Order: sequence, then C-alpha cells, then structure tokens
Amino acid sequence: MKKGLLIFTFASISLIGLCQKPNTLIKPGEVWPDNEGNHINAHGGGIINYKGTWYWFGESRLPRTEKDRTNYGVGCYSSKDLINWKNEGLALRVINDTASLLQPGCVIERPKVLFNKKTGKFVMWFHHELKGQGYKAAMTGVAVSDYVTGPYKYIRSLRPNAGIWPVNFTEEQKNASVKDGDLKSWTEEWKQAVRDGLFVRRDFAGGQMARDMNLFVDRDGKAWHIHSAEENMTLHFSELTDDYLDFTGKYYRVLPGDSNEAPALFFARGKYFMFTSGTTGWRPNPCRLATADKLAGEWKAVGNPCRGTEEENKVTFGSQSTFVLQPAGKKNIFIFMADRWTPQNLADSRHIWLPIEWENGLPMIKWHNELDIKMLK
Ligand code: GAL
Repeated sequence: MKKGLLIFTFASISLIGLCQKPNTLIKPGEVWPDNEGNHINAHGGGIINYKGTWYWFGESRLPRTEKDRTNYGVGCYSSKDLINWKNEGLALRVINDTASLLQPGCVIERPKVLFNKKTGKFVMWFHHELKGQGYKAAMTGVAVSDYVTGPYKYIRSLRPNAGIWPVNFTEEQKNASVKDGDLKSWTEEWKQAVRDGLFVRRDFAGGQMARDMNLFVDRDGKAWHIHSAEENMTLHFSELTDDYLDFTGKYYRVLPGDSNEAPALFFARGKYFMFTSGTTGWRPNPCRLATADKLAGEWKAVGNPCRGTEEENKVTFGSQSTFVLQPAGKKNIFIFMADRWTPQNLADSRHIWLPIEWENGLPMIKWHNELDIKMLK
C-alpha cells in the first residue's frame, strides 16, 4: 500500500471512531447504535456480567421477510456501562453441515448464557427449531465455551425430561386416560384436560416441548431452564445439572393451561416475580405478572404490570418481555427488557428497556422516553 493511501486510511478510520459519539441515554424503541453505528442485533436476548464487563447475547437476525425466520446464530456485544456496546461478533454460529441440527435454515431464539463457577465455562441455552419444520420441533439447544464471547461449541438439542413426570403431577393425572385428539381444542373440557396434563402424558416418552425460554439461577446456586411447554399452554421449570449442561430430571409445571410465553424472572424484596406474555406470535399482547414465595411455586398470576394508557397496556408498550436485568451493585434497580418485534425485518426489532417501579409491593412498568446512564451506574 502506498504511504499516502495508508495515512488516508488511518485518518478515515479514526474519523469514523470520533464521529461515533458515546451514547448517554437509552431511548426505548429507537435505533440503538453499537460501536460501529449499527442497530444492536441481539434480540430476545439476555445479559450477564463477567469480571466487570456486561455481555449481551441475542438473536442475530438477517434483514429479511417474516417467511424466513432463520438466522446465522447468536450475536454478542460487550459494554462497561450498559449503554455503549461493542459488537463482539457471533458467539454461536450455524454449522455448514447438512448432518448438523444447527445447519443454516434452523431457528435460534431467545439465547441465554450463564457462567458456571465450578467448571469455569460459559454455557448457552437457546430455543431451537429445525430447518424446514416451522416451530414443530420445540427443542432446546446447548453450547459451551471457555471464553465469554465464544466461539460457543454446539453440544446438542433435545426435548427435556423424557420419561420423567413433573414433581407436581398427581397419580390421578399420570393415569388419566384422555388423549390428545379426544376432545375439540379450546372447549372448556379440553382446557381442563390440558390443565390436567394431557400434553405432559402425550410427550412423556419423547420429552417435553421447549419453546420460549429463559435461564434463572436461584439463591441456592441451582440453575433452572424455564420454558413454554405443552403446546405453549404451560411453563415448565426444569432444573439444570451442576455443570449447567444437562437436565437433572426435576421439573415443575407452572401456571398450567394459562398460555404463557416470553418468561423473564427476577428475585426482589423476598419474592420471585415473573413477567410473561400471552401467545400471539410477533404481535404484542398484555404483559402478565406472576409472583411466588419459592421458585418452584405456587405461582400466582397478579395481572398486568403495565401502567400506561389503556392502549399501551394492551400491548405492553408495543413489546414482549425477554429478560430482567439487574445492574451490578444496585440492589433494588431492575430493568424490564423486551422486544418490539418487526416481523418484516426482525433485525430492526427495537429494544424496549424500562425501569421496574413498585406499587403496593408489586413491580410495575411505566413508559419512559429515555433512561439516563446515571441510573445504571
Ligand atoms: C413469539 C415468541 C417469539 C417467536 C415468535 C414467532 O410468541 O415469543 O420468540 O417465537 O412467537 O412467531
């Protein structure tokens, strides 16, 4: 390269660097530029803190039509202040091998990462749908890495808890004879049969369905895989092994028959709280809040936590829950993270971050046009 050209190239690179002003405000619903000026492409995601740096993992989406919901993998961004994010590239990539379940064309959604103190490894779980099968497979996938930003090595995908009954399943429910197909869907009888475990019995041998998911580490250090099961009618809380790479076989049904998706949990003020959505695909619906004294339940639905206009409350400010973030060292500050999906161009879906506020001992969410960096520091 000629000297002049070299100087010109360096000069333009530093100019780009200078032009990229640091963000000082989070503006829910607006384009959120990363260090390269591109909208953060990490949807349905989750955030961890490792050695003082934040890492945001999420669906890396192609700017395509709704028909093609596939993606290249899981995007990763790092930040010191939760506002300015550096693109760390893909932490997990699809595998160019038609023998792999993770081949291009599969769907990877709602990825979450945990650091395992015992093994020193980072473990990623994600909702995994297989190429050409729509949302039929309903599996969860697991990948592992020695480094937080990856590359994560894909281990396998599965339907959890094959051949095992939920802890909170009665003998009567195990032995009930009503089968899938016996009753007309959405009749009262059918709904009761679903609550009584119709789909748990159907999926007993092959493993329970796992669609919208999250991970949650309880106060005793046990990690749980929280997922929509039973045709999205019931959430399952499935315990992970100590290395976080597998299921122990201990699992609970939560809010049976209530059709909850997009679970986002946190523990505050001595109680567990969970935001969920209803099941209307990419279209937003009213947020739901549930609370429990113990992670395993009983969980109690306590209504819509949104405090906006009637229209805003009906659609969770145009978004669907994905994660609850607790800024480090901030005992009582929690951020509700959600996605405002753009199905025609999923990469452009917007990030909705709103502070969790409190009312009569329960969390509630109000709209804020912006969140100040000082709040998070
Ligand atoms: C939503 C779900 C998203 C995605 C979408 C597909 O209900 O929360 O993660 O799976 O459906 O229609």
